[in-house]
Amino acid sequence: MTERPIVIVSNRGPVSFRWDDQGELVARRGAGGLVSGLGPLVIGTDTTWLAAAMSEADREAASAGVIEAEGFRVQAVSVPAEPYRMAYDVIANSTLWFTYHGMFDRPLRPRFDRRWREAWQAYRDVNQDFADAVADAAPADAVVLVQDLHLALVGPALERRRPDVTAVHFSHTPFPGPDDLSVLPDDVAEELLLGMTGHHACGFHTARWQAAFDASCEAVLGRRGRSFVSALSSDPDDIEAVAASPAAQAARADLDELLGDRAFIARVDRIELSKNLLRGFEAFADLLDHHPRWRGNVVFGAFVYPSREGLPEYLAYRQQVETAAEEINRRWATAEWTPVLLDTSDDFPRSVAALTRYDVLLVNPIRDGLNLVAKEGALVNDRDGVLCLSPEAGAWAELGEASVRVHPYDVAGTADALDGALTMSSDDRRAQAEARRAIVSARSPADWLDEQLAAAR
Ligand code: F6P
Repeated sequence: MTERPIVIVSNRGPVSFRWDDQGELVARRGAGGLVSGLGPLVIGTDTTWLAAAMSEADREAASAGVIEAEGFRVQAVSVPAEPYRMAYDVIANSTLWFTYHGMFDRPLRPRFDRRWREAWQAYRDVNQDFADAVADAAPADAVVLVQDLHLALVGPALERRRPDVTAVHFSHTPFPGPDDLSVLPDDVAEELLLGMTGHHACGFHTARWQAAFDASCEAVLGRRGRSFVSALSSDPDDIEAVAASPAAQAARADLDELLGDRAFIARVDRIELSKNLLRGFEAFADLLDHHPRWRGNVVFGAFVYPSREGLPEYLAYRQQVETAAEEINRRWATAEWTPVLLDTSDDFPRSVAALTRYDVLLVNPIRDGLNLVAKEGALVNDRDGVLCLSPEAGAWAELGEASVRVHPYDVAGTADALDGALTMSSDDRRAQAEARRAIVSARSPADWLDEQLAAAR
């Protein structure tokens, strides 16, 4: 750790607010890997966490200044609703996210018109508002840990006002190399990289994203910034406590009853295009088609929860996910067996219960910064379940050697890999599961925090 005060800055904060029936503001602990990773380390400490006021209730809470909620010291950064929406929806989620995950259908998108330029200006303004809020709130000599693609420009703006603080940027996403980054307008790519390299250092979950960042800096700026690799890990105590909770235990009992002797393939994801949910369903359908012994004998549990529904792509994707699940059930279900269990309820204990019970965990993203689910599964699964993992997930760097590889675009290959995983010998299952558990347990979120602080030196 460090003697220097710590400030965390992220778009989505550790708590969000809503009004209850009496019109009182109530706080709720936020979801997502950042909160589950960093949360236990900063709860009850002096660390201030600045995050965007994402809703009207958050905005009202922001007017109170620093709030103590759910054990966190939170300061909501209030940005006017429309510029915030443009920065979040248009730039962070529809432009940078799509660029970083290789998700554009290039003959049609992207298209950088005048309206998009207004959104880019809004992104700059939101980053400036964050920098100002941090400059006002940070104790002298603080280390400021800036998280993710929403806030790439905070570092230089902060340094202008507060040269005493050290800002480190961390990307939870992949990062594109020069070819993929070149989809952005030249001046935007340059401004983005100048913003990132204007931090003391930039961190990534894997050497692959770091190398891509370094190569992009060389290509666009003609020089490198300071960068480092540090993979986030799940907190074993935290996730095991959830698995042992009454809610997760009850969900596990329900699942056991539903499954009986059947094998269980699970996935746990946001309904997010980069997670490759549709090809996962297609692979499962192909498994039933081409490996008939599994008909009646396997259930695919998709615990997937809605995300970014302000964007039409995500709304449409959710519908496609629901249709894909329905179609498989329509074709194959019998009176005794429903092949797909689709759960969109965003019930964390229930998802963790699924992670304790899987025989195969499917993690097949087209690209993913890390993927904490693969790690959480390794910690709580009690059946020596097999991990079918895409090499495009950052977690591949650590877990690939103890997983079954699934090519994210190869649907038939994924179906065969699922069959191979379901029929793996118990010795091999145990050996892989033990290896994964050992790899994941060797690191903790505290290591990740320490490595960010070390990068500030
Ligand atoms: O993994 C990258 C990330 O931006 C996280 O920081 C965030 O929690 C997650 O994606 C979900 O995104 P959003 O906050 O837009 O729902």
